[in-house]
Amino acid sequence: MSLTIALRDADAAEVETPLLGVLVQAGSTLPRELSALDERMGKAISRALSRGDFKGTRDETLHFDGGTSRAERVLLVGLGATTETAASLRRGASLLGRQAHRMGAGSVAVVAPGASAADIESIAVGLDVGAWEYIDLKTPPPEAERRKPLTRAIIVADAGREAKDALARGEAIAAGYGVSRRLAQMPGNLCTPELLAKTATDIGRRHKMKVTVLGRREMERQKMGSFLCVAQGTPEDPKLVTMEYRKGKRSDAPVVLVGKGLCFDTGGISIKPADRMELMKFDMCGAAGVLGAMEAIARLRLKVNVVGMFGATTNMPSGTAVKPGDVVISHLGKSIEIINTDAEGRLVLADLLSYARRFKPAAVIDAATLTGACVIALGHVATGVLGSNQELVDEVMAAAKKAAEPGWQLPLWDDYKELIKSDVADIKNTGGRAGGTITAAMFLKEFAEEYPWVHLDIAGTAYSETDLVAIPRGPTGVPTGTFVEFVRGRAG
Ligand code: BES
Ligand code: MN
Ligand code: ZN
Repeated sequence: MSLTIALRDADAAEVETPLLGVLVQAGSTLPRELSALDERMGKAISRALSRGDFKGTRDETLHFDGGTSRAERVLLVGLGATTETAASLRRGASLLGRQAHRMGAGSVAVVAPGASAADIESIAVGLDVGAWEYIDLKTPPPEAERRKPLTRAIIVADAGREAKDALARGEAIAAGYGVSRRLAQMPGNLCTPELLAKTATDIGRRHKMKVTVLGRREMERQKMGSFLCVAQGTPEDPKLVTMEYRKGKRSDAPVVLVGKGLCFDTGGISIKPADRMELMKFDMCGAAGVLGAMEAIARLRLKVNVVGMFGATTNMPSGTAVKPGDVVISHLGKSIEIINTDAEGRLVLADLLSYARRFKPAAVIDAATLTGACVIALGHVATGVLGSNQELVDEVMAAAKKAAEPGWQLPLWDDYKELIKSDVADIKNTGGRAGGTITAAMFLKEFAEEYPWVHLDIAGTAYSETDLVAIPRGPTGVPTGTFVEFVRGRAG
């Protein structure tokens, strides 16, 4: 399933389509661009606006027959009153894409009065993201009941150079989201460390990146006792993957993107309750974000040096699994007392973060579905953002906002460090329930002291458990967009 998007410089009333979506800001009167369409619909749009039947609030929709226009149907989609144009256009287009896909329209057209050429990027991302679905594991229904998948879209706009470039950028970013969400939605028996590593190799081959894969043996040689203790309960070979994209100046230090790639997290010996445990297939969304971002960055041909990196394994209870009370020695040399084997993400990330030093990074950003506490603190709306370098925190938060993946900062003060002091080792892997997101980040900080670093806790934002109008249940693609925007910002 892939969506082909074209630009068409025409009057909205003249675009032949089963469904014409009109993205409207809150409180608009009839935009000039729609007057011909409105006439051919017997002024149904202007009447709906003046009566207040449609106010243009966020996610509001109103469905019309296309009258004598060349659109069979017209759907008004509200953008809300926000000044965040990129985010609201993306959301509106996504809602439209989803609606068109569900309807079985096959194709859709969209007009966004007042949108700039650059805004076409957001609309393109939205349409593609909205039409996304993971159907690989479903038996196709009989021919007669089959809906037409959404394969074509038209953006009604001036089709000049600027608009074409914006469309291409939108398609590149959408492709990144596609990579990320597909992997995230795959069940743990299919999305294995091996598959994540293979995906990296494949992206690397297509875009000329140097990809390195370390397995258990190589990690033993690197003395990665922290990562390896998580992997010791599973027969699957764990993978530490690095992907080097070097299109910047030779002398430029790279940005390093790091992802948690737990293909499934049972909790290990500190086993999780059965209820909703299946959601822990999403525990690799950090890694999926790295892979999606690398795909998008390469397609955007950004002139930067970026290293994508993730650690993939499965957290299992078994006769060989690590136990509470065990002490392991990390790649950095610090000893770690394992209090709870379910706090495994930070153990994987610890070794990744110290391994990242070899790239002499300009900045390191890690993303991980790290703590349930973050879901309690920020819900499913904001990603937790923590870091010791405020400038970098601000830069990452701005990138996240641009990508419509907003983040919210939590403190990383030394006062919290006491909570992870161990009686027997240098540090312990949990600090109790209080400030759970912060103590997890404090743990990571111990391994990330040689470069500017920001941690993203995406436990609440990487996937949605409830089916909302604009955000379907399943993987959201977070943090793909944040990574891409950050790197794009660095590319200038
Ligand atoms: N992958 C989980 C965190 C998580 C929880 C992500 C809910 C998404 C939704 C992580 O490995 C974990 O189990 N964390 C523990 C840490 C605790 C043992 C200190 C948690 O949050 O309960
Ligand atoms: Mn866990
Ligand atoms: Zn986990």
